[in-house]
Amino acid sequence: MSGSDPAGGCDILAPDWNGCSDCLMSEERLVSGGLKRDERENAALRPKYLREMVGQDRVRENLSIIIEAARMRKEPLDHTLFYGPPGLGKTSLAHVMANEMATNIRITSGPSIERAGDLAAILTNLKAGDILFIDEVHRLGRAVEEILYPAMEDFALDIVIGKGPAAKNVRLRLPRFTVIGATTQLALLAAPLRDRFGARFRLDYYDLPALEHIIRRAAEMLHVDVKPPGLSEIARRSRGTPRIALRLLRRVRDYAQTRAEGIITGPVAGEALELLEIDHLGLDDIDRRMMRAIIEKFGGGPVGLNTVAAAISEDQSTIENVYEPFLIQLGFIARTPRGRVAMPAAYEHLGIPVPPTTPAPPDQPSLL
Ligand SMILES: Nc1ncnc2c1ncn2[C@@H]1O[C@H](COP(=O)(O)OP(=O)(O)OP(=O)(O)O)[C@@H](O)[C@H]1O
Ligand SMILES: [Mg+2]
Repeated sequence: MSGSDPAGGCDILAPDWNGCSDCLMSEERLVSGGLKRDERENAALRPKYLREMVGQDRVRENLSIIIEAARMRKEPLDHTLFYGPPGLGKTSLAHVMANEMATNIRITSGPSIERAGDLAAILTNLKAGDILFIDEVHRLGRAVEEILYPAMEDFALDIVIGKGPAAKNVRLRLPRFTVIGATTQLALLAAPLRDRFGARFRLDYYDLPALEHIIRRAAEMLHVDVKPPGLSEIARRSRGTPRIALRLLRRVRDYAQTRAEGIITGPVAGEALELLEIDHLGLDDIDRRMMRAIIEKFGGGPVGLNTVAAAISEDQSTIENVYEPFLIQLGFIARTPRGRVAMPAAYEHLGIPVPPTTPAPPDQPSLL
């Protein structure tokens, strides 16, 4: 099926899929980068073309080269993988690439392709130049991956017809198409699959000017009056993540509408976010509990991830993939081979005195 959009159609193969498992776990958390189950993202806010995207300069530059070259050669794009924390624009970029190439995009996700036959059905329905977007691609099953390898490499589908001694291997030719994969956990992607993506891009947290730009654009589209100090107040607390920035904008808009005549000034944004218990760096209660646990219960670390998880009753992999990356980025927590360590900046942020460090005297011989 192709959509009515002249720039290309969009075919959602798994309409009930709206995020990764991490996102679902942290469902109630306002500052998680993941998409909440009850949250409908405003499709109009998604950038449609590369020129509408802000930030990720290196990725954008590289993509524009890849797209331009493919257009000149009149060939489909190379298979492309986007990876990085949730909410940074992986799905948006897949749509942008389809729009730029004016091709159809078919959307599916690792967990929703259960059997090899499901993938075979999707592949045989592709047309030349189509983009197959596989979200959470690290969650594809082994049998499904086996089908995907020759499809990506040789545009071929190997199927077995018949049963028993009469069974025959048949190789079907597929049209040239492009797989765009997205994952929040590159390490979990099987190496052979990773290697079949000719282009791989890591998305990073956005800086403040980029976030302010994204919020300003969204505010214009939503007809919300946000003053520049209000913009920076929201941007500062968005953890470098556009999805969080847009979510906070919506919450602050509600507050402004009911308490401040609809205008988001700096103080109005500050009050609204304070009420939501999101501090000036975008940290919420869970972040603070985690840092406090490391400092107060385990002497600042090093402490094992499983111990931290038990201490704050959170899931290990959620901590590792959702909470921790931003705290590490802020320099509040360090990952060491012996466990997590709270850094001086974390103490300062929580208003806890930094313990004096006790460096070994210079003339003391090393015990190791
Ligand atoms: N560079 C950008 N410019 C403007 N808006 C952006 C940008 N990147 C992301 N967004 C917005 O942020 C939201 C989240 O983006 P997107 O869904 O593409 O993230 P994702 O990386 O696919 O997240 P997930 O890992 O949860 O699937 C979207 O609503 C999109 O509009
Ligand atoms: Mg996505």
